[in-house]
Amino acid sequence: MARKDDSLLRNLQKEHIEGKLCLITGATSGIGKETAIGLLELGAQVVITARDIARGQAVQREIQMKSGRSRVELFELDLSSKESIQQFVKNFTKRHKGLDLLINNAGVFHPERKESADGIEATFAVNHLGPFWLTEALLDGLSKNAPSRIINVASALHYRAKTDFLNGGAPLERKENYSGFQAYCDSKLCNVIYTMDLFRKLQSKNISVYAFHPGVVNTSLVREYPGAVHFIWGLISKSPKKAAGPLVQLASLPDPGPSGTYFHGKKRKVPLAVTNDPATGDRLRELSESLT
Ligand SMILES: NC(=O)c1ccc[n+]([C@@H]2O[C@H](COP(=O)([O-])OP(=O)(O)OC[C@H]3O[C@@H](n4cnc5c(N)ncnc54)[C@H](OP(=O)(O)O)[C@@H]3O)[C@@H](O)[C@H]2O)c1
Repeated sequence: MARKDDSLLRNLQKEHIEGKLCLITGATSGIGKETAIGLLELGAQVVITARDIARGQAVQREIQMKSGRSRVELFELDLSSKESIQQFVKNFTKRHKGLDLLINNAGVFHPERKESADGIEATFAVNHLGPFWLTEALLDGLSKNAPSRIINVASALHYRAKTDFLNGGAPLERKENYSGFQAYCDSKLCNVIYTMDLFRKLQSKNISVYAFHPGVVNTSLVREYPGAVHFIWGLISKSPKKAAGPLVQLASLPDPGPSGTYFHGKKRKVPLAVTNDPATGDRLRELSESLT
């Protein structure tokens, strides 16, 4: 019986996603790479991005080999640079007029304070600001192909965020007493706030928006941390392939749940209350736009 249900589900996914254009950021490793393979296996047309094109080409070949499908395109994109995002959008829209699915997956978890190419604190820049600019620039394409979908890969660590950084200025720059952990939690809160903000704004456009937490996953996210962290992470985490399963479902099921839902794996969860506050959504949008 379970087997019958599984194949029914897979057929539903295939029917919905076959031939659709799916853009996944940060698919050179971890959850993004496995999600690209999963979507290709279902017959989707996949676009992946990489900061380093040579590395991206090697991953593109690996993804093609593992999925047994060839329909994966590669574009250069560095989410820490506004110039790179603008160039990407130019290149992408030259080739594709519409877009069916955007998965904002790329992310970093720096232990030490760094600045982006644009001089902005790097965790906020890569995890929120870059995806914000990218998404806003791709909304026309998503509207063209509506019903379409946006999935923001957030984290349960958004529950540990503080919101004072939303007041801008020094808290956003984080020049004093930097905590990589706090910067990461706060950036992931931004992912959920932005998801809810988009949900409210895109309701009439037939673009659904979801936030997704994959669980604790054995990827290279903690690559800059000491060996002991890797060791513990390895003990408590699941494989990227396992974590990608629910994300592939969220991406490919015809009706995974109401737009504006926060998922922990396959389960719907209530995110931090502040994420549903329209004034906070507006504040984050204002702040993000002011930084452009
Ligand atoms: N692993 C977990 O336990 C966990 C838990 C909750 C949420 N998440 C979220 O899951 C997402 C995927 O992370 P992961 O765990 O799969 O980590 P990962 O293996 O380190 O993958 C991160 C991806 O982001 C890309 N990336 C990093 N900086 C970038 C930039 N400036 N511009 C464009 N792409 C960039 C990386 O590309 P390069 O190869 O060029 O570095 C890589 O492809 C992240 O948003 C993360 O916050 C992960």
